[in-house]
Amino acid sequence: MKPLESNAYNVIKVKVVVEILKPKVFVTRELFDDIIAKMSELYEVEVWDKYYHPPYDVLLSKAREVDALVTLLTDKVDCNLLQSAPKLRIVAQYAVGFDNVDLECATKLGIYVTNTPDVISDTVAELTWALILAVAKRILESDSFVRQGEWHRTGTPWHPKMMLGTELKGKVLGIVGLGRIGTRVAKIGSLGFGMKVIYYDIVRYKEKEGILGVEYKSSLEDLLKESDIVSLHVPLTKDTYHMINEERLKLMKKTAILVNTARGAVVDTQALVKALKEGWIAGAGIDVFEGEPIPGDHPLTQFKNVVLVPHIGSATLEGRYRMAQVVLENLIAFYEGRKPPTLVNESVLNVRPPGFK
Ligand code: GLV
Ligand code: GLV
Repeated sequence: MKPLESNAYNVIKVKVVVEILKPKVFVTRELFDDIIAKMSELYEVEVWDKYYHPPYDVLLSKAREVDALVTLLTDKVDCNLLQSAPKLRIVAQYAVGFDNVDLECATKLGIYVTNTPDVISDTVAELTWALILAVAKRILESDSFVRQGEWHRTGTPWHPKMMLGTELKGKVLGIVGLGRIGTRVAKIGSLGFGMKVIYYDIVRYKEKEGILGVEYKSSLEDLLKESDIVSLHVPLTKDTYHMINEERLKLMKKTAILVNTARGAVVDTQALVKALKEGWIAGAGIDVFEGEPIPGDHPLTQFKNVVLVPHIGSATLEGRYRMAQVVLENLIAFYEGRKPPTLVNESVLNVRPPGFK
């Protein structure tokens, strides 16, 4: 045997052994190639490469075999799935929200759950402002007025009452949930547009109030009554489910605009449709829906004063890349037996130490 060949044989043998020892991760959608390549240095990676999300039964069967999962908000990680996954130690969610994951169950089973906060707060805040401006300035209506030739048909270049929108300066911006995203939206409203900003939250952030120039409302009802723009920035929980219902929509000003870039189910959709139909509010900007993706003839599509976008709050190349980086950082930390940087269920540390050993 020539020495070179025997070396090559040994190299292959070592590689095979390392492959066997690598923990397995199932990634439920294509991320960035360089991120997957880095993940592959430590993990045996399988990526679901379809456009649609893996059906529940597929996810269930993968969960049975793997040590780690990288999930999206479209993957239902319920207790049944977690209990059927004997080796699963970490669910690294590629999203800031994690209402698709049964956190309590994961914690009990000693499974770590991480998310991707902070890195998309600016991205979502920007989209929130895009929606506020689009509705307040009637951007979509105006665009279609031009494209459909209606402007030309009027034969009138300019009219004092054509496409009148709403000015933001001096108006009241009501932020529901002054977390990372809500804070940024508040800052732009206060410092950028010169709005009066009020907020409602289950916690009061006294320090932020001074820095941002925002005022606390201890009741959501008061906030809804006073605001010209209401923007939602709460996670979806049992307590926030249908938080904006018929009764509360009725409290809003007839001239007010509701913006939702949080989660669809924070708003009772039927009540919102009623509110728009009956003119309880002036318009809405919606990024998130109950039952995504909504059909093209969804009741919300009938209103000109409503701007609808398909859950694109974090959809920028920069934002999505940073999200993937955070997922990777969490997986690396966990592999190395360290606490993942954006661990969601802190109390899991009392159940099992981080790592695959
Ligand atoms: C998107 O909705 C997210 O939670 O990141
Ligand atoms: C909520 O998770 C936020 O970032 O505001």
